[in-house]
Amino acid sequence: MEFRAIINGKKVLNDNWLEIINPSDQKVAGRVTALSEKEISEAFEVARNSQLKWSQTKLLDRIMVLKKFRDLIENNSLKIAQIMSLEIAKGLKDSQIEVQRTLELIDYTFEEAKRLNPLALTGEEFGVENKLGVFSRVPKGVVLAISPFNYPVNLSLAKIFPALVTGNTVVFKPATAGSLVGAFLGELSLEANLPPGIFNVVTGRGREIGDLITANPQINFISFTGSVGVGEHLKSISQTKDFVLELGGKDPALVLDDQNLEINAKEIVAGAFGYSGQRCTAIKRVLTTDEIADKLVPLLLKEVKKLKVGYPNDNPDIVPMIDEKSAEFVQTLVDDAKEKKAKIIFGGNRKKNMFEPTLVDYVTKDMKLAWEEPFGPVLPILRLKSVGEMIEIANESNFGLQASIFSRDINQAIKIAKALNCGTVNINGKSQRGPDSFPFSGIKDSGMGVQGVREALLSMTRFKGIVINYK
Ligand code: NAP
Ligand code: G3H
Repeated sequence: MEFRAIINGKKVLNDNWLEIINPSDQKVAGRVTALSEKEISEAFEVARNSQLKWSQTKLLDRIMVLKKFRDLIENNSLKIAQIMSLEIAKGLKDSQIEVQRTLELIDYTFEEAKRLNPLALTGEEFGVENKLGVFSRVPKGVVLAISPFNYPVNLSLAKIFPALVTGNTVVFKPATAGSLVGAFLGELSLEANLPPGIFNVVTGRGREIGDLITANPQINFISFTGSVGVGEHLKSISQTKDFVLELGGKDPALVLDDQNLEINAKEIVAGAFGYSGQRCTAIKRVLTTDEIADKLVPLLLKEVKKLKVGYPNDNPDIVPMIDEKSAEFVQTLVDDAKEKKAKIIFGGNRKKNMFEPTLVDYVTKDMKLAWEEPFGPVLPILRLKSVGEMIEIANESNFGLQASIFSRDINQAIKIAKALNCGTVNINGKSQRGPDSFPFSGIKDSGMGVQGVREALLSMTRFKGIVINYK
């Protein structure tokens, strides 16, 4: 497979390539263009130059043009899922679900864009009799969209479509693992005849071209999803200070009582191990009491033993991790916990980047696994003294993305939900972004700003007021 970067409605025909490695067999899955500094600045120039005309195109015409792009995504949905599945080792079925979910998000985005109505205000409540203000939402200008490897379709198009439909132009940088599908989306945009320059796909390795991209002075707004380290770095070097950042998480599941433990164990295991735990919203620690843990751990073990380990075409639960370096990192967390006397209930080992589903009991506060995000198939269990201590440990984390509370007592659950410092609390369910229309946000190291359909449209536009003074 070979896909080119797209700048100004054309494929970039240089001779430099970036090879994309298939995590399932470590062989080259394909290659994409590796862009030069000059080509990257050209992408921003054309995005800037095409923005005014695009923003002046009627909303319904913009939707009509973008609808062709959306329909091509639908017509190619199997191919898109296959490419994605190959380069990030996500199960084929899960990849298809990701594409379908994204098509729904796009449709919803078109509808919501029609409802970004202007606000008309008078000053009469303040005794100002002669003013009429009309406040419309206008595009911010050039949007830089940077996506992570784990949802290369959903977390890319959830930025691209809201930006374009509101009259911004886009420079899109996919993750290296995720570039084949990212650049293929670029090819579909050519087939859809989007006006040249409004959507540009820049490919290359983040550590080589990242700074050239993020420091470009043409950018008005950045929508970034990825790790805390890259997010913080980007914040420090970009000239615009207008961002939405979606970063890491260490989502806790607080199990408050021993009711429905079988059902809850199933839900926790699904939340922790889907796509080998490589989800920002994966359950990344269980917080409970000794007494409950004695009953819960055997049930978690029963569920973990059922997980199918394999390769994407067989749609297993556990697939190879994105690369060996990431698996090595998970191993250091598990080994540290083992050395400090945690009990490995299941798994704990790996062959290269294939990490066994791993359940670790008796994790304590001095272990890295209690605090760091593994982004792999590992679930630590912390046995605590009280519900008060569960809240304390949940809130002590640097992260604040989501949390889950499992309890039959809805009054207690709501009380605790209010005490947890994070973006969203799920009662009696795993942590989860979807449905994509929900506002999605993290606090502390988990990010800033809000995603979601309406929220993305709002973040990529600003109020522009015109005030009429009359007599
Ligand atoms: P990552 O390594 O931070 O990469 C994210 C994106 O940034 C990729 O496109 C990457 O390109 C690019 N990048 C790397 N260095 C850069 C630089 N100096 N300047 C600009 N861009 C640069 O993250 P990842 O491994 O793909 O994703 C996993 C992380 O994302 C986890 O921490 C996870 O929790 C987080 N995540 C958060 C959310 C959320 O909504 N909160 C959702 C999904 C994932 P290359 O691939 O080419 O390096
Ligand atoms: O990695 C982060 C994704 O946005 C998670 O989405 O919780 O719906 O699987 P999800």
